[in-house]
Amino acid sequence: MTASKQLLEWVQAPIHWNLLQAALELKVFDFLLQPVKAAYVAEQTRLNPDKLGLLLDALASLGILHKRQQRYQLAEQYQSLLSSDDPRSMVANLLHMAKVKQMSVDRIKQLLAATPSAADDASYQSRMNFRDANFWQTASDNLLAFHRSTSNDYVLGLIEPWADKLAQRAVGDWQMLDLGAGSETLASSLLERYPALTLTLQDLPQSIDCIRQRLDQLPADSQTRLNLLAGDFNKIELGGLYDLVWSSMALYFANDLDGLLMRLKQQLKPGGVMLSLHEGLYNERTQPSYHVLGRFAPAMNGNDLSFDQCEIHAALQRVGFQAVATEKLATPFGPMELTTAQRAL
Ligand SMILES: C[S@@+](CC[C@H](N)C(=O)[O-])C[C@H]1O[C@@H](n2cnc3c(N)ncnc32)[C@H](O)[C@@H]1O
Repeated sequence: MTASKQLLEWVQAPIHWNLLQAALELKVFDFLLQPVKAAYVAEQTRLNPDKLGLLLDALASLGILHKRQQRYQLAEQYQSLLSSDDPRSMVANLLHMAKVKQMSVDRIKQLLAATPSAADDASYQSRMNFRDANFWQTASDNLLAFHRSTSNDYVLGLIEPWADKLAQRAVGDWQMLDLGAGSETLASSLLERYPALTLTLQDLPQSIDCIRQRLDQLPADSQTRLNLLAGDFNKIELGGLYDLVWSSMALYFANDLDGLLMRLKQQLKPGGVMLSLHEGLYNERTQPSYHVLGRFAPAMNGNDLSFDQCEIHAALQRVGFQAVATEKLATPFGPMELTTAQRAL
C-alpha cells in the first residue's frame, strides 16, 4: 500500500467503531436477526427511518449486515456476538473496551500539555485506575462477556495438556489456583471437564462478590469443588498446595513481582506447574502494535502496565522455578507469551 493510501485509510478507521458503537448502544442489532426493512427497525427502536437506513447501509458495507431486496440481516458470524442477550454476546465487552482503550484527540492533547488540568485529571484517572478494585467491579460484566465469547475456548486449549496429565495420574484429586480470574467461566469449564479437580478462584473482594452472585448457574457438583478466595493477592494467604497455578493478564498488579512468584512457588506441590499468559512488548516497547495501540489510552491515564518480552520468564527463573519456557502465541486477543515453569521435585 502507498503511504498516501495508508494515511487516507487511517482517516476512515475510527468510522468502523463509531458506527458499531451507535448501533450497539441503540440496540439496533437485536432487531436484525431476521431479514427486515429499515422502517421496521426504526419503529422498534424509535429512530429516524431514513437516517437509520444510512447507518444500516454503512454496516452492510462492512459485512456486518447483509442487505437483499431492501431487507437487512445480521451476518451469521456476528449474530450471537452482537445480540444483547446471547450467552456469547460481546456487547458488554465491546462497549467497556471502547471506553478503556479509546481516547479523544482533545484528551490526548490535554494530557500532552505541559500543565494538564489537575481537577479533570483526578476525576478521569480515578475512574480508569486499574489498581483500584472499583474499576474491576465495574469491569465484571465485560470480563464475563470476554471470557464467554472470546478467550475461554482458547485458554482451555492451553491448560488442557497440563490438566489432562494431572487427571490421568492415579493419585486422585488435584488442585488448581486461578489467580486474578476475573470470572467463573474458565473454572466452570474445567470443573465440568475434570471431576477430580478442586479449583480455587482468586480475585479482589468486589470481583468475587460479582462472581458469587452467578454461582448458582453452575452444576451442584462443580460448586462443591470451587473455592472462592477474595482479596488483594499481594496481601492474602494464597491457600494451597496446588498442582497447577494459572494466571492470565493479572500479574501487573503485583507490588513485587518476584515476591509474588516466590509465594506462588511455595504454594505449589513439588513438581507443580505455574502457567502465565501475558503480553511481552518488544522493539523498545513499540511492538506488538496490537497491544501498544490498545494500551495507549490506559498508559496515558497512568496504567502503563504491560510486561516486556520474557519479563515474567526472567522473574520465574530468578525466584528458582525450573524448566522455565516461553512460547509466543497468536491469540484471539493479540500476541501473547505463554510461560510455563515448574517447582523442583
Ligand atoms: C485483565 S483482568 C484478567 C482476568 C482474567 N485472568 C483474564 O485473563 O481474562 C485482571 C484481573 O485481575 C484482578 N486483580 C487486579 N488486581 C488484583 C489484586 N491486587 N489481587 C487480585 N486480583 C486482582 C482483577 O479484578 C481482574 O479480574
